[in-house]
Amino acid sequence: MLVLGIETSCDETAVAVIQDGRKILSNIVFSQWVHKKYWGVVPELASREHIKTILPILKTALEEGKLSLSEIEGIAVTCGPGLVGSLLIGLSLAKSLAYSLRVPFIGVNHLEGHIFANFLEYPDLKTPMICLIVSGGHSTLVYVKDKGDYAILGRTRDDAPGEAFDKVARLLDLEYPGGPSIDHLSKKCHTSGVRFPRAFLEEGSLDFSFSGVKTAVAIYVSRLIPQEKEKQKACIAKGFQEAVVEVLVAKLLQAAFNLGVKRISLSGGVANNSFLREQLSSEASKAGLEIYVPSPILCTDNAAMIAAAGDFHLSRGEKSTLELNAFPRLPL
Ligand code: KG4
Ligand code: ZN
Repeated sequence: MLVLGIETSCDETAVAVIQDGRKILSNIVFSQWVHKKYWGVVPELASREHIKTILPILKTALEEGKLSLSEIEGIAVTCGPGLVGSLLIGLSLAKSLAYSLRVPFIGVNHLEGHIFANFLEYPDLKTPMICLIVSGGHSTLVYVKDKGDYAILGRTRDDAPGEAFDKVARLLDLEYPGGPSIDHLSKKCHTSGVRFPRAFLEEGSLDFSFSGVKTAVAIYVSRLIPQEKEKQKACIAKGFQEAVVEVLVAKLLQAAFNLGVKRISLSGGVANNSFLREQLSSEASKAGLEIYVPSPILCTDNAAMIAAAGDFHLSRGEKSTLELNAFPRLPL
């Protein structure tokens, strides 16, 4: 089955086509740059950008896959969680295409899409597994009992890790988005990073909290004179990154240990962090766990992962109706 995926939940306008839930024929992602100067996504601007770019991106995705619309057999679209004005644009396109092409369409939970990035990258990946979704909007630890059968083990109580990376990058006068800037700058610190607090929360909790470490960096930076800040910048970035990564790795391993699950995986933009990838693979191999991390293009928001999750549901005969709404908050 050829499934067209559409993703417009935040600041990426994305369209992809996949075949039989496994093969990516095209995967076009436009990351909106208009938000750069505001250091965060401006919902109104995001919707307007989606409107402007969604049709050219659809056209490019079809051209790249050497396909015509008439060959599409199903449509998958993110229906939540996300920015409502942005979600509605993808949803409206999906509904009009499904109606005119007379093919089924399905609304997909964005977080389920991130989980399916793993099944897309590793088609033979078995369940159960524990998946950690870490992005600018989410920090969610999920027990994937089977495809379509999930239990949330933990989530952030305040900031998502990507949000903390973005805010700390701003404190250090780096580029937006902050994650890649901090990742890059940390490598320039050749001593130990500045030590910042780790929030493990109550004993046994698998929830996360990243606002404390962000505030600790803000207080630390506010006490430095400009020359000193410039001098210490790389080691502040490294120390912050270490504090976030240590908690993420510890909780993911703890979850696998608690449930006796051997497979762990990552997804979301922060999964592209090189230190997180390194630490997780070394800790996982010590603990005898199998680790799965999709390629960078499948970790950040994209429509191929939405098409993969949609293919799974459509293949089971599930479909949405034209009444489907957009849901800013949508539990997995
Ligand atoms: O999944 P994503 O593309 O969009 C959301 O759903 O949020 O994630 C974007 C987030 C941003 O906060 C960005 O700073 C972060 O992922 N990010 C990283 C890295 N690359 C992207 N964070 C840490 N290290 C990276 N290398
Ligand atoms: Zn996402």
